[in-house]
Amino acid sequence: MEVREIPIRQIERGERFREDLGDLTTLIDSVREKGLLQPISVCPHPSDNSRYLLLAGERRLTACQRVGLDTVPALVREYRGEIDRREIELIENLHRKEMHWTEQAALTAELHRLYQEKHGQEWTQRRLAALLGRSLGDVNQDLKLADAIQAVPELGRAKGKKEALTIVRRLEESASIAERREQVLAEAAEFDMVEIAADNYRVGDAIEGLEELARDGFRNARLYEVDPPYAIDIARVKTQKGSVQPTGLSEYHEVSAAELREMLGKLLALAYEASQPDAWLILWYASKNEVLIRAVLEASPWSYHPVPAIWVKEKGVCLNPPTVLASCYEPFFVCRKGNAQIVRQGRSNVFQYPIGDPKKRRHPTEKPLDLMRDLLTTFAHPGDTVVCPFLGSGNTLLACYHENMYGLGWDLEEAHKVRFLEAVREQFGKKEESDA
Ligand SMILES: C[S@@+](CC[C@H](N)C(=O)[O-])C[C@H]1O[C@@H](n2cnc3c(N)ncnc32)[C@H](O)[C@@H]1O
Repeated sequence: MEVREIPIRQIERGERFREDLGDLTTLIDSVREKGLLQPISVCPHPSDNSRYLLLAGERRLTACQRVGLDTVPALVREYRGEIDRREIELIENLHRKEMHWTEQAALTAELHRLYQEKHGQEWTQRRLAALLGRSLGDVNQDLKLADAIQAVPELGRAKGKKEALTIVRRLEESASIAERREQVLAEAAEFDMVEIAADNYRVGDAIEGLEELARDGFRNARLYEVDPPYAIDIARVKTQKGSVQPTGLSEYHEVSAAELREMLGKLLALAYEASQPDAWLILWYASKNEVLIRAVLEASPWSYHPVPAIWVKEKGVCLNPPTVLASCYEPFFVCRKGNAQIVRQGRSNVFQYPIGDPKKRRHPTEKPLDLMRDLLTTFAHPGDTVVCPFLGSGNTLLACYHENMYGLGWDLEEAHKVRFLEAVREQFGKKEESDA
C-alpha cells in the first residue's frame, strides 16, 4: 500500500454511509494551515482506470475541496472484487472517531451481512466482534439496533444507544403484550379461572368504576384494599442511577400530591357507600405523605386506627446512603366502618414478607402474594367480597382466589392485566387439572 498525491477530481465518492458531515470549520482551518495530516483511503475504480473510489475520509476530502486544493494524499488500497472493496471501506469507516451511533450500527450490520455472504454459515457475531476488537454484546446491540432502525426509522432520533435500546425494549414489550392478550383471552374458555379473572380485572379509572358500582346499588364489599399511586415521583425512586427501568414502570400512572388528595377523598366516600354496614379498608401510603393522608382520612366517613400497620421487607431501598437509612417497610392505615371485627384477632400490626425475586415480578410496586393472603384473611372470611381499586400486578385478586373470596378491581393499564391473566393461567391451570 502506498500514499500518493491524487487529483481530487479523479476521486468518486460512491455510495456513502455518512449523510451529515457535521461541522467542518475546524478541519478546514487545520487543512488550510498545515495541509492534510492523515491521508484518505481510496481504491482503483472498478470500471475506469483513470479514476479512484473513496473508501474512507469523506470529511477530509470535502475539507480539502473547500480549501481549494487540487490534490490530496491518499492511501491506495488494492482489492479483489466488489465484496472485498466494500469490506475495506466498511472496516476503514468503522475505525473512524466520533461516529454517530446510528452510523456505527448500520456499518456493523452491513459488514456482518457482507461476511455472511462471503463465508456463509461459518460467519458468526463472535467472529465479527473479534475482527473489530469489540465485545460480543456490543456488536450484538448494534445488529439489533440496525434492524430496529430499519423497521422504525424514528428510533434514529434517540440521543444514544442506551436510550434507543430502552425504546426498542418497550416496543418489543408492547408488541408482545398485544399478542399475549389475544392468546390468553382466546384460551380463556378452557381455563375457568382466567375467564373469571378477566371479568374481575377491569381496565379503567377506579373512581369512575366505583361511581358506577355505587350507582348500581353494590353494597357487598367487606374489605377494600387500596394501594394508590404514591405521589412520590416513582420513576426517580425506582430507577437507580444508570440502571434499567423495572418491568411496567413506563405503564405506572403517577399522580401529584394534590391529585392524590382529591382522588382519595372521592374514593373513601364511594368505598364507604359501596360496602357492607360492617367493613374494613386498608390504605397504603408513602410515609412522606403521612400528614396529607391523615387529613384525608379525618375528612372521610371512615374511622381509622392512628397507629399504622407495616409491611416489613428484608431489604431496603436507599438513594442517599451517606445521610438516609435504607427504607425497609411500607405503612398502611386500617380503617373501619360500623362494627367490623378482625378475623384473626391478636395478630400484630407487623407483616413480614420478602419482596421476592425482582425478575419474577410483574409490576414495579408489586406486593407479594403471601402478604396479600395474610392481609385478606386477617380482615375477611372465605366468601367475602374484596375490592381493590388499584390492582397493578393483580396479586390481591390472586390472593382472593386462593382464599375463596370474591374480588374485583381496576387498573388503567391493560399490560398489567395481561401479565396478571398469564399468572392466573399458571397458578390455576385448566378446569380438569385444577379439579383433579
Ligand atoms: C401502587 S400500584 C398498585 C400495586 C399493587 N398493589 C400490586 O401489588 O401490584 C398503583 C396502580 O394504580 C394504577 N392506577 C393509577 N391511577 C389509577 C386510576 N385512576 N384508576 C385505576 N388504576 C390506577 C397504576 O397503573 C398502578 O398500577
